[in-house]
Amino acid sequence: AHIVAGMKVTERTVSTVLLDFEGSQIGEHTFPLPAPDFTPEGFAEVLHAALEAAATEVGVASDTISGIGIGLAGTVEASTNLVHWSPHLTRRNVQLGALLQERFSAPVFLDNDANLVAMAELYFGHGREVSDFLVVTIESGVGLGIVLGNEIYRGARGCGAEFGHTKIQLDGALCRCGQRGCLEAYVADYALLREAGHEDAFATWGAQDHRMKTLIDAALSGNARAADIVDRAGRIFALGLANLVNIFDPQLIILSGERMQFDYLYAEQVMEAMRDSIIQVDMPPPEVVIHRWGNHMWAKGAAAYAIDRVAEIALRD
Ligand code: BGC
Ligand code: NA
Ligand code: ZN
Repeated sequence: AHIVAGMKVTERTVSTVLLDFEGSQIGEHTFPLPAPDFTPEGFAEVLHAALEAAATEVGVASDTISGIGIGLAGTVEASTNLVHWSPHLTRRNVQLGALLQERFSAPVFLDNDANLVAMAELYFGHGREVSDFLVVTIESGVGLGIVLGNEIYRGARGCGAEFGHTKIQLDGALCRCGQRGCLEAYVADYALLREAGHEDAFATWGAQDHRMKTLIDAALSGNARAADIVDRAGRIFALGLANLVNIFDPQLIILSGERMQFDYLYAEQVMEAMRDSIIQVDMPPPEVVIHRWGNHMWAKGAAAYAIDRVAEIALRD
């Protein structure tokens, strides 16, 4: 049987989807992550265990899988499977592909998580109707997938589309990438929680849901400090979106990711602030849609990527 696997790593889980070569789903599985960050070997072990668990659950022999696509946060060189930086790993420049290949018999294809949700949109979602669009993701970090002419654009060395690390402030707030002044350091969970006084906001990135909900609830129930924090994040995000529009002039922007459960990043005032900063004032702004689809759809994008790469290799050989 021709089966591929797609995996999406979040801070708490690995979601796996198995597809046949037509893109039809055979099954899905969620594996709990024991920790948010790992040594390279530890991370490879966990991904291997997650795939074995998924195959068992779905009733597929893991050696019948002919390709494995994996999406994770960070700068991932898709062509070499080298992870330059990922918040999931305690080290930089990890040959994660090689570590995984020691454990998996099928070829492994790594990519940035947001690139693969863009691939899911391209094949299975809103991207089917347009050729040039952006997917902006907000989870614990801020990600971007760029689709130009129906193709994912990754940059010359495969590490582009890092919207979350566009610099918006000189000597600004510390980002989880280690640099300062990144958009993400003003918009992501840890940024808001830090503003709200949680000094350990970085360290607890596996357990922020509850704190975020508390903060948003406080903002909604009129706590001025909380409302301020949330409102500021929304206005900064709006500037970031406007910058994307000014650079890419996309047909469509899709907002996706777990943080879309809260509306501070797409409230009407955020959209208005975005429109006010688009340079093309005499043209209608691009459509912005919110897509609340879960981690399994991202994993489906990773599986679609595996299909593409396996087919490409078959054609070449
Ligand atoms: C990372 C991106 C990733 C995004 C969403 C950011 O911190 O730099 O690579 O796509 O988080 O997970
Ligand atoms: Na990306
Ligand atoms: Zn950064």
